[in-house]
Amino acid sequence: TDRYAVFGNPVSHSRSPDIHHAFAAQRGEDLTYQRIEAPVDGFAGAVAAFFDAGGRGANVTVPFKEEAHALCGELTERARQAGAVNTLWRRDGVLHGDNTDGAGLVADLRRNQGWALRDRRLLVLGAGGAVRGVLGPLLAQAPAELVIANRTVARADTLVERFTGLGVPMFASALDTLTGPFDVIINAISAGLHGEMPSLPDGLIGDATVAYDMVYGAEPTPFLRWAEQAGAAAVCDGLGMLVEQAAEAYAVWRGHRPDTAPVLADLRRQQG
Ligand code: ATR
Repeated sequence: TDRYAVFGNPVSHSRSPDIHHAFAAQRGEDLTYQRIEAPVDGFAGAVAAFFDAGGRGANVTVPFKEEAHALCGELTERARQAGAVNTLWRRDGVLHGDNTDGAGLVADLRRNQGWALRDRRLLVLGAGGAVRGVLGPLLAQAPAELVIANRTVARADTLVERFTGLGVPMFASALDTLTGPFDVIINAISAGLHGEMPSLPDGLIGDATVAYDMVYGAEPTPFLRWAEQAGAAAVCDGLGMLVEQAAEAYAVWRGHRPDTAPVLADLRRQQG
């Protein structure tokens, strides 16, 4: 039996075991995937123990993605760009790290939603770790421009500096001085799950604008309710990103990408 795990703190609500077990069932592959809650100051030791005991691969979630990046002896290009790692494996004693979050987001946007990004005006709300983790793959889709808007503009500036030069015009902005409309708006302001959305200017949403929240929940997020009220052509939460980033990790570990559609449909049914 091949052993996998997700490391986080807290991790008890992670859906990753269900998702990976569903992937494995598609071809009758023999694997187990568990949740491991590492102490906040004990991530490195927990990861080492897992791989010493024969673990084949691990995912990493909050708050350990940056620490995972620092631990790796080998990084994929997209993990290096992101400065964060969500997928680990060990080969010849060397810890390898990848970041599949951005590829998962792009796969959900393009394949599941059918939303094009090429030549579109793209707005990203937020400038935290979640945004840094997905910017490389978003820019690789060649949008016409990418605006990063954040309460703390300096953090948006830092991201623009880090990712500029990849062929896409990038701009940093405050939230209240944005001028739209945008074609695609992606929310990664973490207040979007439970709390209040910061107020955003009118005119960001036009008739053809689509809006995506990187978080998901049983209820539509405040951001998605706002986008719908403002007349967005389509809205979508981040459940599909979760499944797609898992499929990317599965492919990294096992060499084939599982079929995500039935797994996402099952999760949607459970989401109610
Ligand atoms: P994550 O990993 O989710 O990106 P993070 O790095 O803490 O977590 O980033 C949180 C993001 O949500 C930031 O963009 C943050 O804005 P600041 O950089 O100005 O802090 C944003 N955010 C959180 N609460 C917010 C609020 N009440 N209003 C506006 N932005 C908020």
